[in-house]
Amino acid sequence: MADYKLDAVKGRQGDVSSQTGAESWFYSDVVKEHFFSPKNFVMGEEDMSAYNAIGKVGSPACGDELRVWMKVDAETERIQDFRWKTFGCGSAIASTSMASVMVTENGGMTLAQARKLKPQDIMERLGGLPTRKFHCSVLCDKALRDAINDYYRRTDQFDKIIVAAKRLVDPVANVTDHDIEEAVLDGALTLDAVQQRTKVGIGNPTCLPAVEELIRFYREKYFGAD
Ligand code: FES
Repeated sequence: MADYKLDAVKGRQGDVSSQTGAESWFYSDVVKEHFFSPKNFVMGEEDMSAYNAIGKVGSPACGDELRVWMKVDAETERIQDFRWKTFGCGSAIASTSMASVMVTENGGMTLAQARKLKPQDIMERLGGLPTRKFHCSVLCDKALRDAINDYYRRTDQFDKIIVAAKRLVDPVANVTDHDIEEAVLDGALTLDAVQQRTKVGIGNPTCLPAVEELIRFYREKYFGAD
């Protein structure tokens, strides 16, 4: 596995550094392979009616969209097939292609296992992504979660549906935890940077400790430990 580091978190120049220490925007060979030969991509107008779960998500960061279709075995709840289509960029294509392989390899993940799949797991298998492209791998993670919810909804397992509700963090600037998440994913990794983007806490400094905690949480979630 490639030894890549997330330089934005380390406060250094360059988005991804290679094993040789070269610091630049680059895509790993694995990313290129999945971009040029995407796995499980839906070509043209295929009949997808045999698929029993569908997920859809749009990215507020870039306006791109992703749709996924899953075939879930009713007995084992393992993902037997995972197909997808996107208007997203090369990183979204590579990330979703890799995710489609990961959830179906070795007999397929159960839905419970697939829910534990994180964007970092996909990025590790890809050998890293440029920092500004992390939100693209989050796109496929969210579409997968949407499809899992769709399966549970179709099979009347309503208690297993997990919906990420937004929480208002700063009622003055009307900023939610979701806005903080999007800012971090878009590369704002410090309080200053998040404030420049969202204006959070400027007219309401009492919320700043909560904001700093959220920044730490999302940095850890998407970029790993400092
Ligand atoms: S998915 Fe929109 S820039 Fe990558």
